[in-house]
Amino acid sequence: MPAVWHALAVVLPRSAVAEASRSLLALGATGLMEDVPTGTALRFKQPWDTGRKPRPPATVMLRAWFRHRPEPKALAMALPGREVAWTEEPEQDWNEGWKVHFQPIHVSDRLVIAAPWHGVPNAVVIEPGNAFGTGEHRTTRSCLAEIDRLATPGGSCLDVGCGSGILALAAAHLGMRAYGMDIDEDAVEAARIAAAANGLLATFDARPIAEVEGSWDLVVANLYAEVIAALAVDLRRLARGHLVFAGILSDRAHLVEAAMSGLEQVHRDDGEGWTSLTYRVPA
Ligand SMILES: C[S@@+](CC[C@H](N)C(=O)[O-])C[C@H]1O[C@@H](n2cnc3c(N)ncnc32)[C@H](O)[C@@H]1O
Repeated sequence: MPAVWHALAVVLPRSAVAEASRSLLALGATGLMEDVPTGTALRFKQPWDTGRKPRPPATVMLRAWFRHRPEPKALAMALPGREVAWTEEPEQDWNEGWKVHFQPIHVSDRLVIAAPWHGVPNAVVIEPGNAFGTGEHRTTRSCLAEIDRLATPGGSCLDVGCGSGILALAAAHLGMRAYGMDIDEDAVEAARIAAAANGLLATFDARPIAEVEGSWDLVVANLYAEVIAALAVDLRRLARGHLVFAGILSDRAHLVEAAMSGLEQVHRDDGEGWTSLTYRVPA
């Protein structure tokens, strides 16, 4: 019979969590997690928020995992007066289980993104977990669709904030000369490894955008609206065909629209709170 975990959940005031955690560990819990009580809206501080940090909720859902349920009396002493809920969870092979969620992304017949274990012929292969950009996120997928629509073999593509390199590699796969840059050195390294693994000619480095030269047929940037607006002068300077933006929270799209004023907006995609915008830049 497969092994089972006994999972306990208890709602507590935040001030009682440390003591309860110690007691549950003493009763044999092998793992603990602080969660948000059901029905509580959590708000994280966003990069553009000024002022005070949002307060964490006053109550916490503490979860604990046991191989064997503790004696009810011992549990009642550990969590006096608290109502606990138990569920049973089957053992999972986490190293393998998470892979199930990654499915190949079929952008078009000529552009498919897949993980190494999918074994999809002629796909751009991205190893999940090395940097942002597996194609799972809506913002990445909308950029991939625009790259597929706008790529011209022999043209050039600049990927600003390349993460895993997925967008530059997609452009290279479609015959473009591709260059990606990122402020995160680890992402640049992951992108270089992915380029080599795919046998694609794309270059990556951590140069700041102000130092990037030339003009590019396609400039893609999956970045927050605030970052796109801050980099707008360089983004406009470097583009001579199309500018593709994603990563824009829909209620911030006006920031990008203001920063790109005067350029023709040729595509807009809204969904799940995200907006993607494409502009045509006169050559
Ligand atoms: C949302 S990820 C996008 C990754 C990938 N291009 C994709 O579409 O999935 C944003 C990336 O931009 C990088 N980034 C943020 N600000 C940047 C900046 N000012 N210049 C260059 N890269 C930046 C981050 O390090 C991160 O890797």
